[in-house]
Amino acid sequence: MAFSVRALASQNIRCSVRQFSSTSQNNAKVAVLGASGGIGQPMSLLIKQSPLVSHLSLYDIANTPGVAADLSHIETKAKVTGHQGPDQLQECLEGCSVVIIPAGVPRKPGMTRDDLFNTNASIVKTLAEGCAKYCPKAMIGIISNPVNSTVPITTEVFKAAGVYDPRRIFGVSTLDIVRANTFIAEAKGLDVGATNCPVIGGHSGITIIPLVSQCTPKVSFSDEDLQKMTERIQNAGTEVVNAKAGAGSATLSMAYAGARFTFSLLEAMNGKQGVIECAFVKSELTEATYFASPLLLGPNGIERNLGLGTLSNFETKILNECIEELKKNIAKGEEFAANN
Ligand SMILES: NC(=O)c1ccc[n+]([C@@H]2O[C@H](COP(=O)([O-])OP(=O)(O)OC[C@H]3O[C@@H](n4cnc5c(N)ncnc54)[C@H](O)[C@@H]3O)[C@@H](O)[C@H]2O)c1
Repeated sequence: MAFSVRALASQNIRCSVRQFSSTSQNNAKVAVLGASGGIGQPMSLLIKQSPLVSHLSLYDIANTPGVAADLSHIETKAKVTGHQGPDQLQECLEGCSVVIIPAGVPRKPGMTRDDLFNTNASIVKTLAEGCAKYCPKAMIGIISNPVNSTVPITTEVFKAAGVYDPRRIFGVSTLDIVRANTFIAEAKGLDVGATNCPVIGGHSGITIIPLVSQCTPKVSFSDEDLQKMTERIQNAGTEVVNAKAGAGSATLSMAYAGARFTFSLLEAMNGKQGVIECAFVKSELTEATYFASPLLLGPNGIERNLGLGTLSNFETKILNECIEELKKNIAKGEEFAANN
């Protein structure tokens, strides 16, 4: 079944969703943790459109009943339930096959993603503990920043609970790919729907490594323009933070990216062949023990890590520069998990 946010965008949503709903055999329970937030609400709206979802389970510490009531009136298949506060986390998570986590505070101008660590590390740890206990086999997608550290925290929680499966824990870096596709297509006058640029490394500043040399269709830039394009992709989150001037970070584009990643997971879990997404995962590709790269997805999560491919000299240079930063971010997450 061909279904994606990209496909949705190019069709009449109401007709296509109804058409898929009537033929679909798919019945996934998907949870969004942090569902009342700037990302959580629009991402839940998009996930509610999917015929692959039979139950959309929303959790937050505030405002979940209202968000759930509102979404539940939409004429698509997924049943919507709202769960508020730690006492209701269990019923939110039981039976889930996918859990997407955008809970936590976003950046304000002048902040790096790492500045969010003190608040978000404990939020993610607590929610990961719930997932390990109540839906240990679910695919877990971590959106909460700093992703380079919150994914290692999640892994350590799953290890401590004795339910760790590295194929099922993902840092959602899809927005970096979405941005790369958009900016490159704009610069080169391409059809953005047919543009695909892998982005590897991590999800912050210099750890974001767009592989422009592997973009399809093939594109070429002068050295100066390539440097500028790379920096724009790396700093695109800050572009939004500054434009919002204190009102938060990317929410709508992240909702799109989170929904795209969720749909790819669900399609692969339902047996669709050839589903590939980049994500930040446990990895042996480099000296950094977690690394984002293109992944072939399947019924059990990561089926095969597709690796780095052939890098240009420029990409090799920025990759080397990112590894130390990435290792520091990973160690910070692992130390937090060990000490808390
Ligand atoms: N991975 C990415 O590419 C990417 C992109 C943009 C933003 N982010 C990150 O996503 C996170 C959320 O951003 P936002 O703009 O939606 O923030 P937001 O403040 O609008 O929403 C966060 C939500 O999390 C909820 N929350 C807080 N503590 C919680 C807990 N213990 N359990 C459940 N829910 C809890 C809040 O009540 C709120 O509804 C931030 O950490 C941000 O940095 C990641």
